[in-house]
Amino acid sequence: MSAPQATYLADYRPPAYRVTHTELAFELDPSATRVKAGLQLERHPEYEAGESLWLDGEQLKLLSLAIDGRVLGEHEYQLNEQGLSIANVPERFLLETEVEISPEDNTALEGLYRSGSMFCTQCEAEGFRRITFYPDRPDVMATFSTTVIGDATRDPVLLSNGNPTQRGELADGRHFVTWQDPHPKPSYLFALVAGDLHRVEDSFTTMSGRKVALEIWVEKENLGKTDHAMVSLKHAMRWDEQTYGREYDLDLFMIVAVNDFNMGAMENKGLNIFNSAAVLAHPDTATDAAFQRVESIVAHEYFHNWSGNRVTCRDWFQLSLKEGFTVFRDQSFSADMNSAAVKRIEDVSFFRTAQFAEDAGPTAHPVRPDHYIQIGNFYTLTIYEKGAELVRMLYHLAGPEAFRQGSDLYFARFDGQAVTIEDFVDCMAEASGQDFSQFMRWYGQAGTPEIDAHGEYDYANAEYRLILRQRTPATPGQLDKQALHIPIRLGLVGSKSGSDLPLTLGGQSLGSESVIHLCDDEQTFVFTDVHEAPVVSLLRGQSAPVKLHMPYSREDLAFLLVNDSDDFNRWDAGQRLSMLALEDLIAAHRNGVEKVMDSRLSDAFRQLLEEGSGDKAVLAEMLTLPSEAYIAEQQIRVDVDAIHAAREFVRQSLARELRDLWLAVYQANQSDEPYAPTAQQVGQRQLKNVALSYLMSQPDDGVVALAQRQFEAAANMTDVRHALTLLVHGDHEAVSAPALKAFGHKWAHDPLVMDQWFNIQVTRPQADALDRVRFLMEHPAFSLTNPNKVRALIGGFAQNRINFHRLDGEGYRLVADVVIELNRLNPEIAARIITPLTRWQRFDETRQALMKAELERIQAQPLSANVYEVVEMALA
Ligand code: TRP
Ligand code: ZN
Repeated sequence: MSAPQATYLADYRPPAYRVTHTELAFELDPSATRVKAGLQLERHPEYEAGESLWLDGEQLKLLSLAIDGRVLGEHEYQLNEQGLSIANVPERFLLETEVEISPEDNTALEGLYRSGSMFCTQCEAEGFRRITFYPDRPDVMATFSTTVIGDATRDPVLLSNGNPTQRGELADGRHFVTWQDPHPKPSYLFALVAGDLHRVEDSFTTMSGRKVALEIWVEKENLGKTDHAMVSLKHAMRWDEQTYGREYDLDLFMIVAVNDFNMGAMENKGLNIFNSAAVLAHPDTATDAAFQRVESIVAHEYFHNWSGNRVTCRDWFQLSLKEGFTVFRDQSFSADMNSAAVKRIEDVSFFRTAQFAEDAGPTAHPVRPDHYIQIGNFYTLTIYEKGAELVRMLYHLAGPEAFRQGSDLYFARFDGQAVTIEDFVDCMAEASGQDFSQFMRWYGQAGTPEIDAHGEYDYANAEYRLILRQRTPATPGQLDKQALHIPIRLGLVGSKSGSDLPLTLGGQSLGSESVIHLCDDEQTFVFTDVHEAPVVSLLRGQSAPVKLHMPYSREDLAFLLVNDSDDFNRWDAGQRLSMLALEDLIAAHRNGVEKVMDSRLSDAFRQLLEEGSGDKAVLAEMLTLPSEAYIAEQQIRVDVDAIHAAREFVRQSLARELRDLWLAVYQANQSDEPYAPTAQQVGQRQLKNVALSYLMSQPDDGVVALAQRQFEAAANMTDVRHALTLLVHGDHEAVSAPALKAFGHKWAHDPLVMDQWFNIQVTRPQADALDRVRFLMEHPAFSLTNPNKVRALIGGFAQNRINFHRLDGEGYRLVADVVIELNRLNPEIAARIITPLTRWQRFDETRQALMKAELERIQAQPLSANVYEVVEMALA
């Protein structure tokens, strides 16, 4: 096998031929679907006559090929594994092809495939080339007309993009529907769905008074689970009008739920296709977290209608143009719909754990990479989450009004075009009058910048000097880093008053909170007229995606935890305080010294619990210790066992010392209100369940009975799942075994609940977790071809840190075995599930050797381009 080739951003050239209109006709059949395509092509003015035509095409059986009605002979074109080239084509012409494909053999879930008895498509990024021969690149935008022919019994519903314009009966029990999409779009936004689907209908009146029909299509058994998605959709439509002035542009908007899907959802024009896990929600079957995920993903895909579809990417290197911006938009939406502080805390803790790890590992890449082998591997946390952080910085740098003007300018100027990240940033610069040329480095430089901060208070001169240094560690292929433009939001909290002091910098008074700009390697900021010794509250709201090193004392952190005016930084101070205590305990564990609990941490927690005021969800976050993954991310050499032992020790100490308070919080936050996923209820359940978690880490019979009662009351899935998890993750076999069994029986018919049932079992800390994975892989509800199942069971197990990292290497072996099998079935999922093995550099030598051995075992197999690229990077 020859090594797959890389594609380089520097090699970009416009397409030689554009498609102005695309006519498609599908004759659906599980093993032999026929696809006829008629493409109106025209040569790009930059190219000379005689330039040959290239069409991407993979795994297609070519049946016929004609230009302007003349069938081409075999010597008139060249066909290979990647596509088709034709020399000597006219300047403008009609190309007609017919191909055959087999949806039922498509386990990669790219192109046209079957999910259960449905037909559906996934074309982003390069799936359309598995449907028909086409210039399958985002800078080719065409109007589409699609006729879908199906069996009237098997496929009563036939959907595609745009508006249905014609339908009718055909011979042999077949029928057809023709769809017209008037908005020019790239092929990656094409969609087709067919099957025995049922519709839930609603409508939305746009700001200009147009009525849009809204439809959510699901299989019959899911008809009761669409309400939340529908409400979320209407909220998102209204929010985008109010916040960005963006109105929906077709008369129909459809969402379809499918069970087999590689990612969360896909923004196909007018026909969003969703992983059922990202759209279905019912209080009995979905947790609060799942409800919130549905709300944000429905919004995300809807927002793509402008940020992605109307204005799209010139090439896939610009992926963050649509994803970073759209994640920023969905985060802002969720913040507006729920608790803004909690949303930011959740996003940042996820980002700091997972994206920072990616940025520090062998697959680190810039938000705009300069090369890739498989674009499917670049749907990463860096492109999505770090990309969103860059847009967030632009938002704060420009200010809300200029940002809105910049976005108006962007949508107006580039509507219907395929553009670059510069085009977006230029609009923001133009609207705000600011210079973002140094800022652009963020897009090209990989790695997480680190800031070393140091502050001195000069009592005699009433001055506070803040010295900041930045450095970005080397990343693979990028050894030298340049200074970035880093906005740092800060306040000075008076150590006596406990309130924000007025800020004066360079003789200018800046109010009680401000943003300073770190643009050089090192800068000193001197705040004057500081009449009280301050504690600096730095990087409020995580104003930049950096790691901040500030030598805070524990007293300072305990002070900020109580006094900071910024909720996010109060939470962050608590996390830092916990980290200091945890680091001592990790060292104690390593050195075999007796562990002693830091009383400052217990005191801080006691104070939080006693005051108990404010937003319950914020409080719940503050009472939650950094995760093992987050702690690991803070260490140069990860000590899996010490981290687990230290964190458990803190949890148990807090449980013991504050038992009565936890119990009181648990009792006080019971509720018999009917379930609603409101911020208020979610916060209350979260706080109650945090309390139960602590109680269950020092359980007695009374506490176990509380958990059992919560499980049996079956009030909602949030409470049921939490109680069941605590029972299964503790040593309460007598209670947990029958509970698990009952749960498994009750929900055997519901794949999304069974995913949770799998996940709970394989994330338990006990040493039998691995055996359970092997055992559950044989369970009738498990299937390697269903990505949700793989994520729940194998992905879940890989997050079970002490068991995945077993010293006998069995955890690594299990994941590698699955990667090898999935490599044949579904390369995109295989390349994702391998991620934890790629982080071998961070562990001790024994584990490094074991992990590398598994990567090498994978490398020795015949590999898909997806897995090949990841393994090469990991072993480079
Ligand atoms: N564009 C989708 C989103 O973020 C992502 C996506 C869905 C995707 N399915 C995919 C990307 C398959 C690659 C492959 O909303
Ligand atoms: Zn997206």
